[in-house]
Amino acid sequence: MEISRRKFVNSIGVAGGAALLTHISCAKRPDQPLEKLPPDISYGVEWEEVRRQFSLDRDYIHMSCFLLASHPKPVMQAIERYRRAIDENPVHYFRENSRRLEGAVRLAAASYLNTDSSLVALTDSTTMGLSLLYTGIKVSGHQEILTTDHDYYSTLESLKLRSLRTGTSYRKIRLHNGSFDTSIIEIVDNLSRSITSRTRVVALTWVHSSTGLKIPIKEIGEEISNINESRSDDNKILFCVDGVHGLGVENVNIEELGCDFFIAGTHKWMFGPRGTGLIWGRKDAWKNVVATIPTFSGDDTVGQIMTPGGFHTFEHRWALKEAFDFHRRIGKERVEKRIHQLNSQLKEGLRKMRHVKLHTPMSEELSAGIVCFELDGFTPYEVVKQLDEKYIIATTTPRTYKERNVRLAPSLLNNSDEVEITLAAIHEL
Ligand SMILES: Cc1ncc(COP(=O)(O)O)c(C=O)c1O
Repeated sequence: MEISRRKFVNSIGVAGGAALLTHISCAKRPDQPLEKLPPDISYGVEWEEVRRQFSLDRDYIHMSCFLLASHPKPVMQAIERYRRAIDENPVHYFRENSRRLEGAVRLAAASYLNTDSSLVALTDSTTMGLSLLYTGIKVSGHQEILTTDHDYYSTLESLKLRSLRTGTSYRKIRLHNGSFDTSIIEIVDNLSRSITSRTRVVALTWVHSSTGLKIPIKEIGEEISNINESRSDDNKILFCVDGVHGLGVENVNIEELGCDFFIAGTHKWMFGPRGTGLIWGRKDAWKNVVATIPTFSGDDTVGQIMTPGGFHTFEHRWALKEAFDFHRRIGKERVEKRIHQLNSQLKEGLRKMRHVKLHTPMSEELSAGIVCFELDGFTPYEVVKQLDEKYIIATTTPRTYKERNVRLAPSLLNNSDEVEITLAAIHEL
């Protein structure tokens, strides 16, 4: 006997799930108003007040929180609240609250991104989001995916796996001949010259975690729009961006960023719970994607359908709302300004040191919150080790990259004095 999707979902107790649905349809819900935050809580006065929300070990200067966030108090408390409630009565709490709490996360994300919550899918990480998107995006046999040498392992490996499964061809290009002194024109030109009539997907990373270069998404998006004007619907280029190192740093509205799909983990710069992330897609772009993992979230919107099902670490997923609210209370504009200020201070200092080779551009247009460099006479590992001995936490670029650099990422968890201490420590090496 055939059972309907709704009956099936009800039968397993997941409100409105869509476990049998794999094909994406367009969002059915009207656009929702953005969520208003109560005005009584604000971190607007002092950066120290923001730092006090984290229980970081203060013996260290934490210059690598872009890798994995420490949870700020509101996130930590929400996780604890949900954990206790689930532990007390898992079935009742889930049944009575899951739909509402997941909806609240989507709405908080949408309010932060300035988009409609129906367009936001929830994932566990950037890597999961990239893999779901590059597995499910429609590319026919004669079409290809264009990516770059500068992209992170999670993008490149997702494309490789797709190619192994389905034979989809993908091509890697270089966007520049050196990140430090590249330009918007060089990057857009190199990309544009590499696009052919076969190019269906352009898969890029907003902020390269190998060099700290932030590529000009808006200008690339405009170039792609121009090319798309003369293309039929099923041939139009879909522009997908791994935005993990821009989200929580740059003050942008997602609808105006210039891409069709935006994939990010929310457990890095956003300070969301570990094991959280999202995919946002433009309303008319989602129809080009088929879901891979059956959802348990409902089938009213594409965001729900693209949210992988199964029972999750719900206390983490639901507490993600607090991370978006935390950022909005500080203010997106202030966050961007602060992170850029600290990074500029670091780069100015490094640039004056003869033994330092900087790889991150000086301009704010082409950089965000990660500074990459090499030091004469030392491997990056030696630099990280020596800084560690001075209680400064740096990282190297992962082994999956060709470039091997030292990375420092001044964030909202740092201040100007810590940047000076870090500079002095590097100077001494
Ligand atoms: C550019 C980039 N994308 C994706 C990832 C992986 O993110 P996630 O842990 O959210 O999968 C990283 C590094 O951790 C990265 O540098």
